[in-house]
Amino acid sequence: MSVPHSGAGGADATGAEGRGAVIGVFDSGLGGLSVLRAIRSHLPQADLLYVADSGHAPYGEKSDEFIGERSEHICRFLMSQGAEVVVVACNTATAAAVHHLRQRWPELPVVGVEPGVKPAVAQSHNQRIGVLATPFTLQSEKFRTLLERHGGQAHIVLQPCPGLAREIEQGELDSAALRELVRQFSQPLTDAGVDTAVLGCTHYPFVAPLFQQALGDGVRIIDTAEAVARQTVRLVRDLPANHPARTGASTGGVRLWSSADPAHLAQVAHAWLGLKTQAGALPKE
Ligand code: DGL
Repeated sequence: MSVPHSGAGGADATGAEGRGAVIGVFDSGLGGLSVLRAIRSHLPQADLLYVADSGHAPYGEKSDEFIGERSEHICRFLMSQGAEVVVVACNTATAAAVHHLRQRWPELPVVGVEPGVKPAVAQSHNQRIGVLATPFTLQSEKFRTLLERHGGQAHIVLQPCPGLAREIEQGELDSAALRELVRQFSQPLTDAGVDTAVLGCTHYPFVAPLFQQALGDGVRIIDTAEAVARQTVRLVRDLPANHPARTGASTGGVRLWSSADPAHLAQVAHAWLGLKTQAGALPKE
């Protein structure tokens, strides 16, 4: 299937950032667009392929097996479209499936996303931190390990946000329903006196202004999209110059696919990222 490209343009390309590559990015839905945006600004020459599995969102309230199967299906599709690197732009899918994807395709560089506990501990003054994420992420083994390794002595409030990613999927970032959910999930962090809040789901950066308003200006908000983009740059730098999957020179275009309504994905990508790109339907098999 071919979907028209949209040029990245604008960003300055030097060194590895100027190198072409085909990068596949996926999420349970629209949230991974926050990661795509960061990758695009770091690697303006790269061809970016984005899959929104909105037909199966939210992942955060699903099982390990289900998320594992979806991730494998999407990863295979991205590789069939020429992806040389895959970015799992979803904290939940990373917790559930990144290990499996790396075992399944040992030669494929795979970048995962995890809540920014480490930078939060480094930047918090009072060592009182809140982590906002999906129920799945907060209950996962991977997240427990992350807390043990990087949580230090901080008092960390874990706040699951069921329903929030689903509401953001609607594409309307200032609705009364969204404001109410954000208010509700911010309250326990305020009560605990946190000075740092981690957005542990890639959907949440799109409502960062609502969180900032609910938490107050004194609370620092941490999002890991930039760190993920920098890690992607490092992996791209290490790719072989003539990857067998590369069919031509990269042009800095973006292609989009959705397992729900491709027109909705295209419309949101335009509204949130300024992308002028049509979207295709993700094949079922
Ligand atoms: N965007 C996803 C994440 O980073 C998950 C949202 C969901 O599907 O529950 O965790």
